[in-house]
Amino acid sequence: MLVCHCKRVSSRIIRECVQAGARDAASVSRACGAGTGCGGCRPLVHELVERELSSAGHLDGIPRAPEGADLS
Ligand code: FES
Repeated sequence: MLVCHCKRVSSRIIRECVQAGARDAASVSRACGAGTGCGGCRPLVHELVERELSSAGHLDGIPRAPEGADLS
């Protein structure tokens, strides 16, 4: 799905940026240019980054322990 029409960035590229280490929308924008044109896609870029971080076990850029992990 094309997310950023100005810079021709797809949701796949955004996911790959997060998988490569980007932990917020600003980092993704610096990496691939998404959101650096008219800015209309920024809310969607932010949502996709949060979704990818969440599905990868990260929230707010902070790695989370696996469910059921012994943290004592
Ligand atoms: S659509 Fe992404 S910056 Fe314009």
